[in-house]
Formats: sequence, structure tokens, C-alpha cells
Amino acid sequence: MRHCMSPLDFSVQELNELMALACDIESNPEKYAHACEGKRLATCFYEPSTRTRLSFESAMLRLGGQTLGFASADSSSAAKGESVADTIRIISGYADICAMRHPKEGAPLVASSRSGIPVINAGDGGHQHPTQTLTDLYTIHSLLGRLDHITIGLCGDLKFGRTVHSLINALVRYPNVHFVLISPEELRIPSYIREDVLEENHATYEEVEHLEDSMPKLDILYMTRVQKERFFNEEDYLRMKDFYILTREKMALSKPDMIVMHPLPRVNEISVEVDADPRAKYFEQARKGVFIRMALILTLLGIHIDPAIPQPSVEGGESC
Ligand code: NCD
Repeated sequence: MRHCMSPLDFSVQELNELMALACDIESNPEKYAHACEGKRLATCFYEPSTRTRLSFESAMLRLGGQTLGFASADSSSAAKGESVADTIRIISGYADICAMRHPKEGAPLVASSRSGIPVINAGDGGHQHPTQTLTDLYTIHSLLGRLDHITIGLCGDLKFGRTVHSLINALVRYPNVHFVLISPEELRIPSYIREDVLEENHATYEEVEHLEDSMPKLDILYMTRVQKERFFNEEDYLRMKDFYILTREKMALSKPDMIVMHPLPRVNEISVEVDADPRAKYFEQARKGVFIRMALILTLLGIHIDPAIPQPSVEGGESC
């Protein structure tokens, strides 16, 4: 049985197939409207979420399936002390696939080892967020037409931001991706990403503190929120939280075709005035997350739709 714990669970070829499928779903939604009839998705969220949980639910509903689940640990038996290993055994009897978010790194992995159904890691602590990465890759590919030969600025909380960790893991596999890691000293990328992912894969990267200096060379600016819930004390969070604020003035320093992404939620790090800039793509990014999650659900459930109808190839530059 196949689970989704990390973006590395898929080869580059498989990622291309997932994106091609997402593109076909986005272009021909009616073709997939009954694909998951009779199937159930469980969403087990032990940590807050808006986009990830609702986009999974929307994905399953658009595939003709049903959903069940809980949105916080205190509304589940976790509050009574039940382990994720026991919970997933139970859920395996209630649903066909499960998306799980948990504050503890590795909890979805533990669940997958005891599960009778595919488990998708919907974010585990400060570790990984593979379905956000699938969303990010699909968005970049759709908007720029490529995932290689890009300079990407990752800005904000690079220490605790799991979306950044997963995205770096995925992007080092494409040629000529240059990473500009923009963070305050205290929120630098963890050494296990710097050494075991970036350096191990011979990726080029630079670590800087000033956003403005880097703006002119970026093809993508990926902003992130300072992860309040992972700080040990409030004081440190308050000192860091407004370190970067993307404004119209800073946007003026960037290329005319640079794209701004953000996994959302945004707090203060992107001024709302930037939303009107055509380069601001974060809402589009969130919308695209539904189609790639539909593609993921179908793939993990082993459901193939209309093999007779050719699907547009990502290699062919089909844009969604
Ligand atoms: C992200 C997360 O949960 O890591 N949100 C999301 O799923 N889109 C980013 C964040 O919370 O800052």
C-alpha cells in the first residue's frame, strides 16, 4: 500500500504524472466527478488548518466521494490519551484513505506503519508538508512552465516552516535551481536541511538577511509566516514576527514576471496592498491545491479514469 509522507515518496517522473493528472482534472472536472463514488476520506487533524483540511474535503467531494473526520485533537480520543497507532487502526475500518495532520514530527509515519489504508501526511510539526509541496510544484509549473532553471527566494521562518523544508527537498532534484534563503539569524534553515539536503544534492544556495538586496534576481519569492505555535516563548515570537513585510515598494525592486507565493495563512508578512499586484499568486496557489490533492487521492487509491482519453503531458508545456 502506498502512503504519502514526504515529497520524496514520488520520483520526478511520478510527480510529472501527478501534475499532468491535476491539469487534466482542472481542465475537465466533469470527467472525474464520479471517480471516487463509494469511497471515504478521513481527515484527522490534531492541529489547526483551513486550507489543507478543506481542500482535501473539497477534493474528495469533487471526486464524488465522501468525507468524515475531526478538526482538532481535543474533539478526538487523543484527548483521552489514545495513540495515533490505535486511532488509525480504527479509522482503517471507517474510511478508504486518511489525511493526517499532527503537531509531532513523525506521527503520520507511525500511523502509516499501522494503517490498513493509505495515509497522507498533511503536515507533521516543523518537519514536512508534502501536499503543500505538491501544490507549490504544480503552481510553479503552471505559472512558469518549468521547475528547473529558477532562482527561488524562501523568506521568513525557515527554521520551523515545514512547507519550506518540504519544498527544498523536492526542488533540489531539478537542475539549476538556486536557493536564496532569506531569514533572520535566529530563524535560519536547520542544519539537517542545509547539509543533508542542499549540500548533499550539490544545490547552490545563499543565506541572507535582507530581502531587498535579493529581490531583483528572484523568479519566485516564497514568503512564510513566523510559526508562532512552535516558539518556546512569546517574547521571541513578538521580536521576530514583523521582521519581513512585503510591500508595494519592495515589489518595485523585483522582476516584472516574478511570482509571489505563500502557503498561507498570511499574518503581516505580505501587506494586503500587494494582493492587487498581478505577480501575487498565493490565492491562485491555494486554489490549485484542490486539483493536485484530487490527483493524489486517485493515485493512492489506484483509480484510473478513462485511459482511452489522452491526458495532456506536463512535458508538453500544457498550462493549467
Ligand atoms: C502551512 C502549514 O500548515 O504548515 N499552512 C498550510 O497548510 N497552507 C503554513 C503555515 O501554517 O504557516
